[in-house]
Amino acid sequence: MKVLLTEAQIATRIKDLAAQIERDLPGEEGIHFVCVLKGGFMFMSDLVRSMGPRVTLDFIAVSSYGTGTRSSGEVRMQKDLDYGLEGRDVIIVEDIVDTGLTLTYLQDILRARSPKSLRTACLLSKPSRRKVEVRVDYIGFTIEDHFVVGYGLDYAEKYRNLPHIAVLDGE
Ligand code: PRP
Repeated sequence: MKVLLTEAQIATRIKDLAAQIERDLPGEEGIHFVCVLKGGFMFMSDLVRSMGPRVTLDFIAVSSYGTGTRSSGEVRMQKDLDYGLEGRDVIIVEDIVDTGLTLTYLQDILRARSPKSLRTACLLSKPSRRKVEVRVDYIGFTIEDHFVVGYGLDYAEKYRNLPHIAVLDGE
C-alpha cells in the first residue's frame, strides 16, 4: 500500500481545521460534535483534542457501502444520536465525502432537529465522485478517485487503525 497522507500531514491539517472552527464559533457557547461512525472516529478524536474545553460529543452510525469498495448509493441509519440538537452549534464529523449521498441524508435529518447552526467537517473529499452537491464547511484534503484506507477508513472492516491514509493496492 502506498502512503497518500502521512500521520504528520494529517495532524498539521487537523490543527488548522480546529483553529478555523474556533474562529468561526467564538465565545463561550458549546460546540457539539456529531461523529459519523465508524469511519469518523479517529478524525473526531484528533479534532476535539485540538479544541478548547467547550466541546460536547455524540455519535451516529449510518452505512452506505457493503463490504466492497464502491458505494451502493443506499443510506441506512444504524444508530441514532443520544442527545437532541435544538439550539446547539453542531458540527458533523466525517472521514470522507464521496458521492455526497451520506452527508446529504445526514444534513437533512439533523437540520430537521433545529440546531442553532449546522456545519460539516470532512477529512477527505473526492469531488470527482460527487453525485449530489453537498456543502462541506471544513475539508482536510481534496484527493483523486483512489480507494483509500486507514485513519478510520476501511476495506471490509480492515485497516481502520492505520495512523496514515494509504491507497489500497490494485486501485
Ligand atoms: C463511508 C464514509 C462516509 C460515506 C461516504 O461510510 O464514512 O460516511 O461512506 O460516501 P458517500 O459520500 O458516497 O455517501 P461507510 O458507509 O463505508 O461506513 P463506515 O464509516 O462505517 O466505514
